[in-house]
Amino acid sequence: MKKLTLTALMALCTASVLFSPTASAEGDASALTVRPAGYKPREGDAKLGERLFHDPKLSTNGMSCATCHANHASYSDSFAKPYPHTVVMARDQLGRKQVYLDEMIQACMVMPMAAKPLPWDSKELAALVAFVEQEQRTFKPTKQ
Ligand code: HEC
Repeated sequence: MKKLTLTALMALCTASVLFSPTASAEGDASALTVRPAGYKPREGDAKLGERLFHDPKLSTNGMSCATCHANHASYSDSFAKPYPHTVVMARDQLGRKQVYLDEMIQACMVMPMAAKPLPWDSKELAALVAFVEQEQRTFKPTKQ
């Protein structure tokens, strides 16, 4: 059941890549998720991150991160591993072998959220990273 749901979500994510106005081709969407040259992650505010995680205004389709990820939903066991690591969706849909957490958040911005990536130097991206890191610490993979 859990697997089915994830497969359905991934199909939805592919559909949003195909139809997203900001990412008409897989190549564009993939490039948008790569850290720019000279990028230095900034310190983020996890409280702001938690608010943004629940904010459907971040997407163009009425979804928030929490629509899919509330209570650790829609994450695979890879979420338990330190970044960078392989995330199946980013690998299969964007050809990204490994992603950092900020890159994966951008991948969810352009695919399931059907939006533009957040500015790399924004406090919003840093805040989401800080909040998702917090979520990661309490995440229990299904297989040990
Ligand atoms: C429509 C559902 C959906 C929405 C909305 C969504 N995601 Fe995801 N997210 C997924 C799916 C599906 C995966 C991929 C699981 C896999 O392939 O392992 C994923 C993967 C991730 C991962 C990687 C987990 C890992 O294994 O390392 C992170 C982090 C993440 N999402 C954060 C976010 C954030 C932050 C937002 C909001 C900006 C968001 N997601 C919005 C469905 C969604």
